[in-house]
Amino acid sequence: IKRIGVLTGGGDCPGLNAVIRAVVKTAIRRYDLEVVGIIDGFYGLVNDVMEPLTESSVSGILHRGGTILGTTNRDNPFRYAVEKDGQLTFEDRSEQCIVNMKKRGIDALVIIGGDGSLSIALEFHKKGIPVVGVPKTIDNDLSATDVTFGFDSAVTTATEAIDKLHTTAESHHRIMILEVMGRYAGWIALYSGLAGGADVILIPEIPFDLGKVCDHIRARAERGRKFSIVVIAEGAKEIGGELVVQKLVAQSHDPVRLGGVGHVVAQKLEMCTGMETRVTVLGHVQRGGSPTAEDRILSTRYGSAAVDAIMSGQFGKMVALRTPKILPVPLEEAVGTAKQVNPDGQIVQAAKSVGISFGD
Ligand code: F6P
Repeated sequence: IKRIGVLTGGGDCPGLNAVIRAVVKTAIRRYDLEVVGIIDGFYGLVNDVMEPLTESSVSGILHRGGTILGTTNRDNPFRYAVEKDGQLTFEDRSEQCIVNMKKRGIDALVIIGGDGSLSIALEFHKKGIPVVGVPKTIDNDLSATDVTFGFDSAVTTATEAIDKLHTTAESHHRIMILEVMGRYAGWIALYSGLAGGADVILIPEIPFDLGKVCDHIRARAERGRKFSIVVIAEGAKEIGGELVVQKLVAQSHDPVRLGGVGHVVAQKLEMCTGMETRVTVLGHVQRGGSPTAEDRILSTRYGSAAVDAIMSGQFGKMVALRTPKILPVPLEEAVGTAKQVNPDGQIVQAAKSVGISFGD
């Protein structure tokens, strides 16, 4: 192996640049390789948009959010959207990717992404392309790794928001609802709710009864705590209710931008408690800005381990945190099923022990 390619796919996430930097530095310093950056994720691989990466290309990016390579979550080489006669059709452009890799002399790929991008990585592996994946998502819902990079930064941002909402909630005797990301898993809501001292946490894994949430908030008010903080994951579901996030997705709306379940719950809570209620949809603030120290370290370890995996021929693998080690694990184990919060696990139990309601 003389030259490797690196790409970032799917939604951006704090720590992407730290991974890219570690890949480039490890490849050059430890293995004397050349590195090619593939621009805008799989779009660049299909359309041959690439540029060489040197140590100076990655200088000063460790602490920067986003990705210097750009990303999209549209372009799947195996089902590539093409417009023909005003109609959208899907074509397999994976062979073109292989041609482009050969043309550029790329012997192996590091694919940094979440479930979607790593599923594509697996398809390339099955076609005989040497790939190694790196687990990225603020949602922390990838299986096979203890934690994804970006999660700690998103939790930190959400916790800061809860701290700020607390002071205004208390002053105005209001219910403050914070809607955070997490369509399939409630990790961000659970962790930030715990760290920020929320009164109610609503997550997809524990369908909630609004009557119980209401009782919890009223009981607090009776004890003199005339405000409450509710942290709700965008994929949370009321028992017997419709899953607002899925309905909006089905209608091709963006639940994050529109604000989904948080507003629905706010209306109902205001009616049943009689307390003024306000909603904050944190949205993409959770995906932006500098990674935390924890994420910078994890990203650096992942990037460096990905190059080690390539050089030891561990293809079709994803580098995973199996505390305290980073190990290559088969991509098959990582993709397909979202890693969810265990409703009966210790973390939820601890939250309940300190008085947090999950509406169950
Ligand atoms: O998977 C990351 C994530 O931020 C989810 O938490 C969120 O539901 C989704 O991406 C938002 O995607 P987009 O940026 O396309 O609106």
